[in-house]
Parts: sequence; structure tokens; C-alpha cells
Amino acid sequence: MEKQLKYKRILLKLSGEALAGEKKMGLDIPTITEICKSIKKCSDAGAQIGIVVGGGNYWRGRSSDTMDRVRADHIGMLATAMNALAVADVLEGLGCEVRVQTAIDMKQIAEPYIRQKTLRHFEKGRIVIFGCGTGSPFFSTDSAAALRAAEINADILLKATMVDGIYDKDPHKYADAVKYDTLSHHEILVHSLKVMDSAAAAMCSDNKTPILVFDLSRPDNIYDAVMGEKVGTVVS
Ligand code: GTP
Repeated sequence: MEKQLKYKRILLKLSGEALAGEKKMGLDIPTITEICKSIKKCSDAGAQIGIVVGGGNYWRGRSSDTMDRVRADHIGMLATAMNALAVADVLEGLGCEVRVQTAIDMKQIAEPYIRQKTLRHFEKGRIVIFGCGTGSPFFSTDSAAALRAAEINADILLKATMVDGIYDKDPHKYADAVKYDTLSHHEILVHSLKVMDSAAAAMCSDNKTPILVFDLSRPDNIYDAVMGEKVGTVVS
């Protein structure tokens, strides 16, 4: 029997670092291709997919203490636009129909973000990649993911990370860290579990957006997550 989708409409958050592979900086096309193959499988199975990309492979915070925070965040938003275009290019190379929409107008390069157009693209089977975060400084791309997930009424926000779920403490530092299978939004906020920054976590909680945190070092986890296989930690 053919597998059924568990989540029909998803918002996938990809960190910038995930696009850099072992290089840690810039773009690693073979790594991005593996991620995109998994995304294409979800799309072929009928999932409607919005993607928010981070920019950490190009830019993190401020380059110096004297740099203006707003200017630094603007540079970060441009980094996410570059990543959005790169992911779009690889997905198109695999045969997907893709539209890039940015929260800051750069019309010669991409469509502006217009929610109604996003929904129309989904109806037509297109993947939509959202660039430039929320378009405002002081907000992370996790907040952009939480915002877009709420706006498009996503069934789930898939947060692809470098760890295979949510732990009670940092599993890279503590051998006895315990992984949760499920958590509530309330537990995330009360225990300050490091899933996303507090603004993004609060937005998901307020809008009752479920979050699935999982490991992207195995790219097919994206497909498995969408099909409802047991991966990562679910927050609902
Ligand atoms: P439908 O008309 O619903 O089928 O959507 P569509 O995206 O195919 O049509 P549209 O005429 O909006 O876009 C045609 C192409 O132009 C697509 O590749 C869009 O991504 C692109 N496009 C549309 N608006 C803009 C824009 O403001 N800037 C840029 N750079 N490209 C755009």
C-alpha cells in the first residue's frame, strides 16, 4: 500500500549551516542536493511545502561590537535571500516547480511575499521558499518560520537541526542528556528548552503550531517526518 502523508502543508526551517555541509561556510551543493531530494519526495507525495532558510553559513550576528544591530540584521536578511535562491536552483534542477518570495522587496530577483500568492502556488504544486526572514531586524529566521507557519496554516513546522530532537540538556556536552519524544509548548517555555529563541517559541505556542525538531544529518528524515515516521521530538 502506498504511504500516506501525515502532514499535508508543512513549513520547513532549514538553517544556513545545513547548506554549508562540512565546509561550515557558503554553499555545499552536494549537501543541498541531498536535502532537496528529500523535499522533492515530499512534494511528489502531495505535500504543500514552504521553506524558510537561515543565513548562518554567510553571516552570524555582528562582525564587531561596534556594528549597528539593525545593519547587521539587514546583512543577515540578504544572506537568507542568497540561500533561498540557491535552494530554489537545486530544487528546480531536480524538476520541482519553485517560487522564491522575499519579505524585503527585491523585485528584479524574486517575488515579494504575498500570502495569497503563496497559497495559489501551493494549489499548483509549487514549493515556495521564503527569503529575508520576517523583513524586520531583531527577529530570527526561527521567528520567520513561526510567522510563516501561522500565516499559511501549516500543519507542522519542521525544524531541521544538527541534533536528533530536544534534550533536557545539551547532548554534545552531557553524556547523560535525555531525549524527549513529545513535549508541550508550555514545557518548552517553562523549562527554557533550547528549541528556538523565545520569541519564535512563544509565537508557535500562541498559534498552536506543532513543531517537529529533527536531525538533518540524515536528509531523508524530512520525508520520513512528513510521512509520520518516528523521528525527532514533537512539540504540540
Ligand atoms: P500563476 O499565474 O498563478 O500560475 O503564477 P506564476 O508564478 O507562474 O505567474 P507569474 O506571472 O506571477 O510569474 C511568472 C514568473 O515570474 C515566475 O517564475 C515568478 O516567480 C516570476 N515573478 C513573478 N513576480 C515576480 C516579481 O515580482 N519579481 C521577480 N523577480 N519574479 C517574479
